[in-house]
Amino acid sequence: MNYEKYDDMVFIFDHPLIQHKISLLRDKNTNTKEFRELVSEIAMLMGYEVTRDLPLQEVEIETPIGMAKTNVLSGKKVGIVPILRAGLGMVDGMLHLLPMIKVGHIGLYRDHETLEPVEYYCKLPEDAIEREMIVLDPMLATGGSASAAINFLKQRGITHIKLMCLIAAPEGIKRVRDDHDDVQIFCAQVDEGLNDTAYIVPGLGDAGDRLYGTK
Ligand code: PRP
Ligand code: URA
Repeated sequence: MNYEKYDDMVFIFDHPLIQHKISLLRDKNTNTKEFRELVSEIAMLMGYEVTRDLPLQEVEIETPIGMAKTNVLSGKKVGIVPILRAGLGMVDGMLHLLPMIKVGHIGLYRDHETLEPVEYYCKLPEDAIEREMIVLDPMLATGGSASAAINFLKQRGITHIKLMCLIAAPEGIKRVRDDHDDVQIFCAQVDEGLNDTAYIVPGLGDAGDRLYGTK
């Protein structure tokens, strides 16, 4: 495995390419175009491991030389759910790996005063309940947004859920673990903690603003 275990349900990636790209992502001099490309590339690299447990089935394929017994994905359905806005940056990377997956969207923003997530949009694939749904968000800070997004999925009957983020604070991991002990969390790096406005320290700043150049 290319990740080390934090606990049974939390996976932190130690792959050199991921570590390198996260360092570039953190750099305040990385511009919007580079930032967007890096988020997408890291999502693709992480997606490779996040989907490691997808079931396979054996098939027979005729090669130019003879018959081969070989494996293909067994058809277990997967979906991704980016949390708007910043999670959108991770969609393309995942679609490169799994072009046929369906994409839902959950719109949440953190109220700057209360720091609580406010929902403004939710649209999921019709058959989401049959799928393993992977929630995407680059930042797991207090964990309020991710926990709320997972709640929305569970309220709609979805039971197989994973969370994939790039940078996590220990507070966010704890919140999601406490609220949803059945959800595996995958992240590239875990940081020191949060500052007094609940930004991850050292983090990378505001992921949405850096992706879309809004500040
Ligand atoms: C960011 C980020 C997460 C959330 C994390 O979104 O993309 O969704 O904050 O914080 P939390 O773990 O404390 O909930 P933000 O609310 O800034 O909205 P945006 O993506 O629209 O900029
Ligand atoms: N959201 C961000 O975009 N960055 C943080 O550090 C925390 C929440």
